[in-house]
Amino acid sequence: MNSFRLIYFVFVNCLIAEEIWLVKFSQTTENRLSIIEENFPYIDLLESNSLQSTYVFRLRNEDRTSFARFLSKFNGIYRRLSNDILKQSSKRSKRWVPSENPLDKTYYQHFLSYDQQRDWHNLLENSSSTKKFVRLHTIGQSYENRSLEVVELHTRKFRRRRRRHAVFIDAGMHAREWLSIGVANYIIVQFLREKNTNSKIQEIFRHFDIFVLPMLNPDGYEYSRTKNRLWRKNRSPTSHSDFWNGDEGCIGIDLNRNFPYQWDSLPGSSVYPCTDSYRGPEPLSESEIFHTVNFLRRLTYPHPKFHAYFNLHAFGRFWLLPWTYTLKEKISNYDDIFRRSDHIAKTVMNQTYNVGQASHLLYPCSGTSIDYAATLMPHAMTFELSPVFNRLPMCLEKSSTINENCTLGFMMGPEAIEIDGREIFNAIVEYLYSITK
Ligand SMILES: *[C@@H]1O[C@H](CO)[C@@H](O)[C@H](O)[C@H]1NC(C)=O
Ligand SMILES: *[C@@H]1O[C@H](CO)[C@@H](O)[C@H](O)[C@H]1NC(C)=O
Ligand SMILES: *[C@@H]1O[C@H](CO)[C@@H](O)[C@H](O)[C@H]1NC(C)=O
Ligand SMILES: *[C@@H]1O[C@H](CO)[C@@H](O)[C@H](O)[C@H]1NC(C)=O
Ligand SMILES: [Zn+2]
Repeated sequence: MNSFRLIYFVFVNCLIAEEIWLVKFSQTTENRLSIIEENFPYIDLLESNSLQSTYVFRLRNEDRTSFARFLSKFNGIYRRLSNDILKQSSKRSKRWVPSENPLDKTYYQHFLSYDQQRDWHNLLENSSSTKKFVRLHTIGQSYENRSLEVVELHTRKFRRRRRRHAVFIDAGMHAREWLSIGVANYIIVQFLREKNTNSKIQEIFRHFDIFVLPMLNPDGYEYSRTKNRLWRKNRSPTSHSDFWNGDEGCIGIDLNRNFPYQWDSLPGSSVYPCTDSYRGPEPLSESEIFHTVNFLRRLTYPHPKFHAYFNLHAFGRFWLLPWTYTLKEKISNYDDIFRRSDHIAKTVMNQTYNVGQASHLLYPCSGTSIDYAATLMPHAMTFELSPVFNRLPMCLEKSSTINENCTLGFMMGPEAIEIDGREIFNAIVEYLYSITK
């Protein structure tokens, strides 16, 4: 594979174009996806509906011929989707008008740019309506020197109380998962709006200070906004990025594979720099993860000890619990955290969320944030948010009538923020309330 790529690039030194394919297999073929992963490491699985045997892949032009041959061998048919799909969510955004009220809906009805997000953080910290309850912490810089900003929420009245704990919420670890950032912002707004009226939230603030890092991967996010909507990794160079000049996939590390716990146990975590799940040259090699981990270990700022962690991704409607790295082991308090999560998923969430161990519900992968967080605190979990659409059909919904103008989960419009935000906010409030007792 690698030597083939070497020859290819010597002769064709140009930017690689990409295509998006909707693939349907006509009969069950065992382990199809793992065969694809093994033989086509540079093909990115964007969506899957295993019940209907339909999948959406992103592939480079160089892989088209061999992948088409592979599909015909395995009884698969494909259809190229319109590249216009990648423009959908920006096209649908209304114009953003800043408000002087930091709790105004404009701050969660749009996908904010990095600069807009920072302006909003300053407004939260300085506005008379919120400044008593908000503190901003710059915990470090990204590779391209953007600030990693944590918004701290607290009610000062209880600050001196002993045995307080901290809660950490992060989003945007994967650049293209814009919805997670919007939902983190919605959560900040709702905690501040409801802190005096909702008795559960009052109880939560009696026990916890809440820390939210809405944009963990600001470089990747800006790249996804301006250059490549489906960008996933951060933007730091790898050992291959100079050599494979022109192959942008050789830049960046998958930040959710770079955490220093079980980093090298390897499943679902790639050693190849040009893949989308590249784990990096060593654990903590990435600035974004190094600073986040220092913050979690309380080396950055002397806050109370962390007790719970909510990690936001998009999409899939999954409520994922540790462990991620193994199918064999079960975390020691699994039954307790499962019971709490499953109860909440069934009682307060409007849409069906699948609750369970991450490695079983998705796939095993190592070096992830919840596995690392679970070594520091008892409650660590990931939400894979729900794609909500009200305009275009999902590409995978009714596979018999493929509409080339369909849409993908990553392309969710900003109208999904409020719907998902409400649901995840309710779930987090119920979960935190359940552990105050
Ligand atoms: C908000 O306050 C911080 C310090 O508290 C200051 O650095 C920043 O410039 C202020 N921003 C605005 C817009 O006043
Ligand atoms: C980030 O800032 C440091 C210190 O100013 C500088 O040395 C470095 O080149 C900057 N990195 C990037 C990618 O701009
Ligand atoms: C979700 O469920 C709650 C409580 O059952 C209800 O009040 C709310 O309107 C529902 N939201 C949506 C978007 O269906
Ligand atoms: C998809 O959208 C394009 C441009 O809006 C339009 O010309 C085309 O007819 C649409 N195709 C289908 C199958 O709706
Ligand atoms: Zn993700």
